[in-house]
Amino acid sequence: MQTKFNYLIIGGGIAAYKTLDLIRRLRDMHVSVRAILTDGGAQFITPLSVASLTGEKVYTDLFSLTDETEMGHIRLSRDADLVLVAPATANLIAKIASGRADDLASTTLLAANKPVMVCPSMNVEMWLKPSTRRNIMQLEADGVTVVGPASGDLACGEFGEGRLAEINDIILAVKRSLGVGNLPLNGRRALVTAGPTHEAIDPVRYIANRSSGKQGYAISGALHRLGAETLLISGPTNLGTPEGVERLDITSADEMLAAAEAALPVDVAICVAAVSDWKPKHLSCQKIKKGSKPMLIDLLENPDILRQLSRARNNRPNLVIGFAAETNQVLENAKAKLLAKKCDWIVANNVSLETGILGGDQTEVHLLTSDKVESWPVMSKQKMAARLAESVAKYFTLQAS
Ligand code: CTP
Repeated sequence: MQTKFNYLIIGGGIAAYKTLDLIRRLRDMHVSVRAILTDGGAQFITPLSVASLTGEKVYTDLFSLTDETEMGHIRLSRDADLVLVAPATANLIAKIASGRADDLASTTLLAANKPVMVCPSMNVEMWLKPSTRRNIMQLEADGVTVVGPASGDLACGEFGEGRLAEINDIILAVKRSLGVGNLPLNGRRALVTAGPTHEAIDPVRYIANRSSGKQGYAISGALHRLGAETLLISGPTNLGTPEGVERLDITSADEMLAAAEAALPVDVAICVAAVSDWKPKHLSCQKIKKGSKPMLIDLLENPDILRQLSRARNNRPNLVIGFAAETNQVLENAKAKLLAKKCDWIVANNVSLETGILGGDQTEVHLLTSDKVESWPVMSKQKMAARLAESVAKYFTLQAS
């Protein structure tokens, strides 16, 4: 197996001692680790203990002349396949979010051109402070992966969110990022529909629903990161294809259905697309001219892709998940959709304009299955996608056991 290379930046927090176990686990996976210990980190663990486990020199100070001549901070950041920050303190997170570079750790992070993953660890009040929330959102918007924190007893004696994520969860996230080891959705095939469909009226006009495609794209990326072979069937959007995902562009609902049926069999199908419910009965080959009479368009109902997949006689996906975009009575309407369309799970969200969910980067959803409802807190669409993909992985793990 090709050796991957990981930079581990150890911030100042009581959880720093847990990184010794993290290093050991990474080395077991044949991942080389080079560590940078911040001044704070060095208050909790010694460079010697870190070096003993990594088998490498430990870097501690930007202005150490020998370090700079032997290996400057730019080179430090370039060597890595991944830069992992654990534990990431509120201060270190603030520095990354604002692009500050005033020590070796923050300078390496600013100079990094490889994926960055941070594992926050701090007191619950610090984690919940609006400033930390803003910084975390900024990191996520900048493409940084945030793992954790977990909830539970904190070193300060309080209880709540703020514990360093479990080492197992950090290892899983590193595996995903580096593409090493077994991933929970390895060997599974996934299908995701995303974006709007455009239903042509004439060569220049169409009917469509509002949809940026962000949520569906994020979900396809998250499924791929857990190891699934993922096909994204997308209506027109301005988004780039998530790394590793196969994308098929379509325009209308009919094309989306044909593409989805052709992709079967899959293990999981997630219909996130905002499919137009109607299409014009007649397509005018020429641009329709304005006239004195009011314009009337006869509409036909479009096929319901989620319903068709859920009711497929042959090759029904093992798990079919729909979305319910609602503006009122969110849970009731979503439950009715779950039953009517016969899908297995439905993700409900309130898309009233004042929520800013449509087209925005944040979302707040409820996951409904046949017998329970989980309400998830407000989070980025990326994070929601990761959590949904984890739920899918858990579903298959339980099924296999
Ligand atoms: N959906 C679909 N094909 C359609 C319409 C909807 O696959 N023609 C899927 C969506 O991708 C989503 C779910 O069905 O997963 C619910 O979509 P939504 O627009 O919320 O509901 P509709 O079925 O269109 O019902 P209504 O517009 O009456 O709320």
